[in-house]
Amino acid sequence: MTQTENGSWDRLQALKSTVGAAQLRDLLADDPERAERMLVEGAGVTLDFSRQRVDSQVLQALLALVDERGVLQRRDAMFAGEKINVTEDRSVLHIALRLPREASLVVDGTDVVPEVHKVLDRMGAFSDRVRSGEWVGHTGKRIRNVVNIGIGGSDLGPVMAYLALQDYSDRDMVFRFVSNVDGTDIVEAIRDLDPAETLFIVASKTFTTLETMTNASAARDWVRQGLGDDADVAKHFVAVSTNAEKVAEFGIDTDNMFGFWEWVGGRYSMDSAIGLSTMISVGPDGFHDMLAGFHAMDEHFRTAPPAENLPLLMGLLSVWNRDFLDCPTVAVLPYDQYLSRFPAYLQQLTMESNGKRVKLDGSPVDSQTGPIYWGEPGTNGQHSFYQLIHQGTSVIPCDVLFFNEPLNKMGDQHDLLIANALAQAAVFALGRTEDEVRADGAPEKLVPHKVMPGNRPCSVITVQKLTPFALGALVALYEHTVFTAGAVWGIDSFDQWGVELGKAMAVGLAPQLISGDPAPAGQDAATSAAVARYRAARGR
Ligand code: F6P
Repeated sequence: MTQTENGSWDRLQALKSTVGAAQLRDLLADDPERAERMLVEGAGVTLDFSRQRVDSQVLQALLALVDERGVLQRRDAMFAGEKINVTEDRSVLHIALRLPREASLVVDGTDVVPEVHKVLDRMGAFSDRVRSGEWVGHTGKRIRNVVNIGIGGSDLGPVMAYLALQDYSDRDMVFRFVSNVDGTDIVEAIRDLDPAETLFIVASKTFTTLETMTNASAARDWVRQGLGDDADVAKHFVAVSTNAEKVAEFGIDTDNMFGFWEWVGGRYSMDSAIGLSTMISVGPDGFHDMLAGFHAMDEHFRTAPPAENLPLLMGLLSVWNRDFLDCPTVAVLPYDQYLSRFPAYLQQLTMESNGKRVKLDGSPVDSQTGPIYWGEPGTNGQHSFYQLIHQGTSVIPCDVLFFNEPLNKMGDQHDLLIANALAQAAVFALGRTEDEVRADGAPEKLVPHKVMPGNRPCSVITVQKLTPFALGALVALYEHTVFTAGAVWGIDSFDQWGVELGKAMAVGLAPQLISGDPAPAGQDAATSAAVARYRAARGR
């Protein structure tokens, strides 16, 4: 069945020109209960979607879509460990990473929960040794600096979580994150560090990723240069990977390797051993609190009725905004400086998952799929790109996020922060009419410039306080939001074939740039010319 032959999809198409075209200003004025009715809570997270351009008819049709598209069956299949990542023939089991010790989840005859906890326990013991100073480097000095080398899911989650939980971290230790193959990244990350006090975590699911392996080799050279060729580099390197063979080949003792499983996607791995840097920074207890937050949201997603299910509703709203209100992007606006990398983290989670053009069976999708996610913390964004959100020609739905309690109490700064978050949400929704602008006394020639169309859909997501638990719940909220939208679209949210071609081409191009090797057969004229120009510019 194509999406356009589908009852609820057609119903939503019809509602697009009525409810979809309605003004939030009217919806809010005509229905004062709306603000209370469109408020749901789960795992300590509250979602206020009263400023989304929906009404009960749209919600009903979206919820009917859940049945028609088998979203709940697919959710249950994921939780049961079925191979729902069809193109890679894999289970999708990040939910197993946060199951409590006493739970059980049997996949292909093996209970994966004891395996998960075995790794968590090893990570805990190792983190304690590093944090206490018991783990020492080659010269006997304690480790003061931890440098995570990884990219994509092996970087964005760790760096985002480190920054988000900085208030809970060991402030006597330095944490750095190296991802880019641009040498500047590693040079700047380690220039002020003492190799004798530095531990590198080489984080790579495959342990073949060009950027990570290149940076890991550079780090090994730096340690040897600093500590001598005969230095015991094993004391300065641990690995996080699914590929023991490659880890050993690199020269890292596999006793110092923390494993995970092929059923953990890179962008769903920050709560696996990939989170080792997070655990060292906040300690094993903090990490377990974060896992508990993930699990609480998993349970909410698995058991809450659809109409009160946060990730399900957020996923459905994203389908409504993308496909029916024709909004190609979503702005994520955390009003919390600790969440400065949260939008970047969500970019991989959402876009690598749902940036797909064919359905599970390979046939072309017949709707739009994943929107572009972007954003910056408020209030900074207000002084930069909010102008376009308020008065540009594209409608950009926004997720405004904040915590009720500040971690840093500085006079009334937190109240000012939240006043800004709520003011922006109100302006997104209501805008400013011509009459209001005139009533404000604007000169006539400025009236059109000052009109704000409003009607920008917006969700306000709040949590009491930024804690490891809250972070886990928030990340799981978005993971399952992405899942829900992907299930409605009928796509594989867990593969990423689109990233392969560019990687392979870069590997082919490098010898041409470096040594002047002949162009690979069939190279296009633009690339050949660019290679020639680059070589000339480098005097080669
Ligand atoms: O290039 C995309 C990707 O495969 C991501 O999905 C993944 O998170 C990242 O590269 C890093 O991969 P790895 O952990 O295997 O180094």
